[in-house]
Amino acid sequence: MSNYHIKHLEEYYKVYRKSVREPELFWEEIAEEHFSWRKRWDKVLDWDFSKPEIKWFEGAKLNITENCIDRHLRTKGDQTAILFEPNNPADGPEHITYRDLHERVNKLANVLKSQGIKKGDRVCIYLPMIPELAVSLLACARIGAIHSVVFAGFSSSALASRINDSECKLVITSDGSYRGAKTIDLKGIVDEALETCVCTTHVLVVKRINSEINMKTGRDQWLAPLLENAPTECEPEVMDAEDPLFILYTSGSTGSPKGMVHTTAGYMVYTAYTFKNVFQYRPGDVYWCTADIGWITGHSYIVYGPLANGATTIMFEGVPSYPDFGRFWEIVEKHKVTQFYTAPTAIRALAKENLDYVNKYDLSSLKVLGSVGEPINEEAWHWYNDNIGKQKSPIVDSWWQTETGGIMISPLPYVTPTIPTYATLPFPGIQPALMDENGKELTENQVEGRLCIKFPWPSIARTIWGNHERYKDTYFSAYNDKYFTGDGALRDAVGYYRITGRVDDVIIVSGHNLGTAPIEDAINEHPAVAESAIVGYPHDVKGNALYGYITLKETGEGRDHDNLRKEINQLITDRIGPIAKLNKIQFTNGLPKTRSGKIMRRILRKIAGKDTGNLGDISTLLNPECVKEIMDEAL
Ligand code: PRX
Repeated sequence: MSNYHIKHLEEYYKVYRKSVREPELFWEEIAEEHFSWRKRWDKVLDWDFSKPEIKWFEGAKLNITENCIDRHLRTKGDQTAILFEPNNPADGPEHITYRDLHERVNKLANVLKSQGIKKGDRVCIYLPMIPELAVSLLACARIGAIHSVVFAGFSSSALASRINDSECKLVITSDGSYRGAKTIDLKGIVDEALETCVCTTHVLVVKRINSEINMKTGRDQWLAPLLENAPTECEPEVMDAEDPLFILYTSGSTGSPKGMVHTTAGYMVYTAYTFKNVFQYRPGDVYWCTADIGWITGHSYIVYGPLANGATTIMFEGVPSYPDFGRFWEIVEKHKVTQFYTAPTAIRALAKENLDYVNKYDLSSLKVLGSVGEPINEEAWHWYNDNIGKQKSPIVDSWWQTETGGIMISPLPYVTPTIPTYATLPFPGIQPALMDENGKELTENQVEGRLCIKFPWPSIARTIWGNHERYKDTYFSAYNDKYFTGDGALRDAVGYYRITGRVDDVIIVSGHNLGTAPIEDAINEHPAVAESAIVGYPHDVKGNALYGYITLKETGEGRDHDNLRKEINQLITDRIGPIAKLNKIQFTNGLPKTRSGKIMRRILRKIAGKDTGNLGDISTLLNPECVKEIMDEAL
């Protein structure tokens, strides 16, 4: 018997020990009892971190949409699967039952087929948070096409590079999107992107904001009439356990974004099992994750994890501030939300507003609060605990990554005692290790080091699309035989983990991963710029904000600095998206460098964070004199 639902701390420890001692048996029991398979696996796990190669449930055949939809039809056909809450509260909500979802996914799957999409083809999805987004993921999965969702806040060039990297044949988008009181011209962004994408031959357009858009003959089609004529049944493609399910891009510390590849069976089993336990989901609960499906949190914990458990999952199109700052809490009251999962940056933003926005609403339905995406600071934790959870709903501070596919370290509510800012204990099947500077594992408690994982888990990304070498270099070469996360962590006396933040050049701004290199590349395109360096500094709402040190060319020196700042941020917006804009830009005469010419970001980080008490030894720098100058003029 598998322990699919863990209810007590002792049970957790028992299950955890089993998952480490007999990992294959452990995962096999869960897979066997809780999912439908067209064919059973021949082997549970095959792995070699030195190659790296990881295979789970090899030989098994399945379709994830049968698990997420079809098998619930008999008992839950009339239950709401997706509860859509639109941007404007007056326009909704919309309840999509499992039966409706089945029909919508099957129809769209048939439309995709009619456009020539088949198993293994890549489909780019660039949509706002409307039901068609979830339906598109599932329709791709139904026919074995690999979806690549691009967050609809990325710019046209960011979109184009992702479309080209995985050679998407088809793009699903909408005429536009609502964002609070604003609308965004998504189709215009797609048109611009596709000017440089020869791989894309078809574009399907959802009508959302009824704007006037350009439809390119032979390439673009409205989705609605195609759906109207599509058959309501689409036989699911029978997939191998290790067939790719999707690609999702994430920023690295250097180079272009990495297309993380997730495969079918392991991802399904792990997201479903973690969803059940981390949120203690029970029948009748209404679960709400506020993330966007453009990120991994939305893939795993709005779509696949909840639906695999036959849950009711809310999709919210809007923003927390529209029509006012009470919007989240209005939704909680209206739908009697039981589990609420959000990001620290949203909590901090809402904590700044008047408490009346919270206290106006009845939040007594809440049983579990979640946090994800960045470390949650103590103040935000307490505000969340006191004002939203009324000190009755445990906070699950869940640590994981795009690459891990599912939650890795997290309390289980009502099971694991919580401590503010601690992600606490590893999920069953997860074997963390903390490493010291010399690559040695720190085996005792009360230590701090770099966080690695020693053993594979079912939803680990299997490769980077088109670049297995980079996958190996990034995750498996820093430490022998271990997956390196890029994060630092400490382990306390009882074995609880606290994530301390990135140890590389990835900066998490408002919960979004940003690599410094692509931002610097964008800035350096400006004709007046000679050189730039980006660092993060603490920000009370965003967690981190971006600080740019920019050296101008001689030709740029006479230019008005405020105008230059605007132009530079516009360039970043065009190349990446508004999320990567710099909060502060300091113009410098030079950047501190080592004798080998490497920019000393450590010093720049300290200056940006106003932490200049101990800059360390700067005498070995190539140009120590510039440090004082930068400090004197720091913003
Ligand atoms: O630094 C960690 C931070 O977010 C990174 C992963 O970002 P991404 O791939 O975009 O996925 C975010 C959603 C899963 C991690 O390397 N992070 C995520 N959750 C936490 C966190 N840092 C501290 N505490 C967390 N709970």
